[in-house]
Amino acid sequence: MNILLLGSGGREHAIARSISASPQCDKLFIAPGNAGTAQCGTNVDMEPSNLGAIKQFVLSHNINLVVVGPEDPLVKGIVDFFESDPELKFVPVVGPSQEGARLEGSKDFAKAFMTRHGIPTAAYRTFTKDELAEGQAFLKTLKPPYVLKADGLAAGKGVVIPETLAEAQAELAEMLGGKFGGAGSRVVIEEYLSGIECSVFVATDGTTYKILPVAKDYKRIGEGDTGPNTGGMGAVSPVPFADSRNADGKLFMSKVEERIVKPTIEGLAAEKIAYRGFIFIGLMNVGGDPWVIEYNVRMGDPETEVVFPRITSDVVELFEGIATGRLDKYELTVDQRFAATVVCVSGGYPGEYKKGFPIGGLEKAAGKATAVYHAGTAVKDKKIVTAGGRVLAVTGMGKTMDEALAAGYAAVTKISFSGMYFRRDIGKDLK
Ligand code: AMP
Ligand code: GLY
Repeated sequence: MNILLLGSGGREHAIARSISASPQCDKLFIAPGNAGTAQCGTNVDMEPSNLGAIKQFVLSHNINLVVVGPEDPLVKGIVDFFESDPELKFVPVVGPSQEGARLEGSKDFAKAFMTRHGIPTAAYRTFTKDELAEGQAFLKTLKPPYVLKADGLAAGKGVVIPETLAEAQAELAEMLGGKFGGAGSRVVIEEYLSGIECSVFVATDGTTYKILPVAKDYKRIGEGDTGPNTGGMGAVSPVPFADSRNADGKLFMSKVEERIVKPTIEGLAAEKIAYRGFIFIGLMNVGGDPWVIEYNVRMGDPETEVVFPRITSDVVELFEGIATGRLDKYELTVDQRFAATVVCVSGGYPGEYKKGFPIGGLEKAAGKATAVYHAGTAVKDKKIVTAGGRVLAVTGMGKTMDEALAAGYAAVTKISFSGMYFRRDIGKDLK
């Protein structure tokens, strides 16, 4: 098969590496990719949302399967674009329809979907620009802290959690006043859930589903989960609490499957929403019970950098099963070892930072129990240089969480670039 993978982050490098290890893959193209994906296939200078260019490329390179990494092309309707085009409709795409992508593209849509299907999620109300006063009044009925979410895609920055009522009311006015552009023209206000988060990934062809290894990511820039939110500073898989029994004798993951995964897949089918892709369920473990924080319609980053290295069955067959409705035939097998990834970022990130610094030690860091995934890198004058905020995700594997973390951190110490920063406490809260 000739495969086109869309995206350019650490997630795409991890997916590209698993694809290139499959005997099913003849040629792999990554658009636009990074310096790491170039080692797994051929990078193509093409934006993942440029549907016209993608069409030309798919036809001229005999592409048999398209895998979409990020949410943007999905929310813009790439799957519907392929299905409605006479020349493209036989090319399978891994990803939901535009309607399905609303689970991530609109928080209000996702909340209403969960409410319709009895899926546990924080109580909420949605307000528009004309309903500022009602929104301010609703905030008064809640206890602090307050959770305000821009309805649309806001590059991971659309959730604000103020501590006081005055701050929350001011924030609501700013959001409805255009702080996040069109994404904030509606704002979801919801109850605060207190607990520990994890990320559950479900592959589905719309009928059958497979639950992939569970992961946990670390979003804040600072150690001890402090400071501003980032795209993700590290991740681990599996998550010990997910496979342990709670006081009620039930496994946490059994509750997730019964209360969340099944009603989500059945709800999509009942509403005739075509969904052949990944569902990323962001969960809060509140006293042993799972509550949904959010849906995403793609794999997570940096979670993919710990989930994909643990998948030992053929991922091209997984993608094909998803995209062609034959997931029931797929046998998922998982490496029982732990994986931990540490993200190395540019100094100043998530604020302003400089790019173009040479990265040293990449060959030395890669080993039998470690993998270095590129996130924001490029090649300049034949050298690999920094090209983004999140630069590398360095994954270690081991029989225990400690061993995986030790392998990952040992590899990180071999890598250097000007201004490099990473968190030293990934996985520590789970021990
Ligand atoms: P989201 O973009 O929906 O993932 O939200 C970003 C982050 O805000 C989440 O990862 C949580 O840490 C936090 N968050 C979102 N909703 C809630 C909630 N209802 N209660 C507590 N924390 C939340
Ligand atoms: N790690 C969170 C995300 O990919 O959105």
